[in-house]
Amino acid sequence: MSRIALKLKGNKAALDVLAKSNFNRLQQHKLFSTNSQSGRLAGKIALITGAASGIGKATAIKFIENGAKVLLADVKDHLGKSIANDLGPNAIFMHCDVTNEEEISSAIDHVVGRYGRLDVMYNNAGIIGTCAPTIIDLELAGFDRTMAVNVRSMVAGIKHASRVMIPCQAGSIICTASIAGLLGGIAAHDYTVSKAAVIGLVKSTAAELSQHGIRVNCISPHATPTLLSVNYFKKILNINDEKKVAETMHNMWEFKGARCDAADIADAAVYLASDDAKYISGHNLVVDGGFTSFKRLNFTPSP
Ligand SMILES: NC(=O)c1ccc[n+]([C@@H]2O[C@H](COP(=O)([O-])OP(=O)(O)OC[C@H]3O[C@@H](n4cnc5c(N)ncnc54)[C@H](O)[C@@H]3O)[C@@H](O)[C@H]2O)c1
Repeated sequence: MSRIALKLKGNKAALDVLAKSNFNRLQQHKLFSTNSQSGRLAGKIALITGAASGIGKATAIKFIENGAKVLLADVKDHLGKSIANDLGPNAIFMHCDVTNEEEISSAIDHVVGRYGRLDVMYNNAGIIGTCAPTIIDLELAGFDRTMAVNVRSMVAGIKHASRVMIPCQAGSIICTASIAGLLGGIAAHDYTVSKAAVIGLVKSTAAELSQHGIRVNCISPHATPTLLSVNYFKKILNINDEKKVAETMHNMWEFKGARCDAADIADAAVYLASDDAKYISGHNLVVDGGFTSFKRLNFTPSP
């Protein structure tokens, strides 16, 4: 049973309210998140980029559910502020364009100024990029933009997180990569290159930062229904209905019997951020139901 459900168990009045008004998860937080001082991230201070939507937002919810204080950073100010507001006093929002090193640096300094340290840096913001179908179609200005948002930003995030973590000789840095960084042919070239670079960046910086007790890892999700991926698949599948697109994405997966949603990627982030992962560094945690690990022989047995 989730922590929220446990909290709700003894509170019949609140349960009635929830039953009547079809509360969503964020609204539940507004009512019940003020005393989340236990959990796998109890007392940890975190910054998440790209936290106004999708995986970043799901992770902010889970981090707070697990006792962390979180700065949500994004370029979508209105949405980010409203999410932070709904998440309660353990969440704050700050505008941060991750392509701007100064804004990343300021967001990190803001966390340290407010809470005294930074325990977890989650470099998650990203874009799908050009979606150019062929290498000939790929415009290099678009390639540069994808690299700026998906890679350069993560270099800056790791650089400035390290600046404040090294004096503490501790910290967990997480980046969102993708299975597109492991396997050619499932995304456009700029996106694939950017995510392969993130995996390399994580290994490279993990080597150096291991000398300071700082862990650096990444998560590589399979296609997970979020704004980024649903819009992408809407375009390439030529389907307008978002529910249908999400269903088609779920059906693309090899693993049956479970679905992968943003909350599942958030669970991987909670693990990597927590002390349960205290000896895990330089790792790419692939969340793909085995998609990149095997090929099945899809023959039909003879009668
Ligand atoms: N959804 C998937 O299928 C999938 C699969 C593999 C990897 N990823 C990666 O997951 C990460 C999160 O994506 P998502 O699927 O949740 O998409 P999303 O579009 O729902 O969320 C991305 C967030 O990043 C923010 N962002 C974009 N550019 C920014 C910038 N310059 N500065 C600050 N914030 C910025 C957006 O405003 C948005 O809130 C990305 O790095 C993406 O590449 C997603």
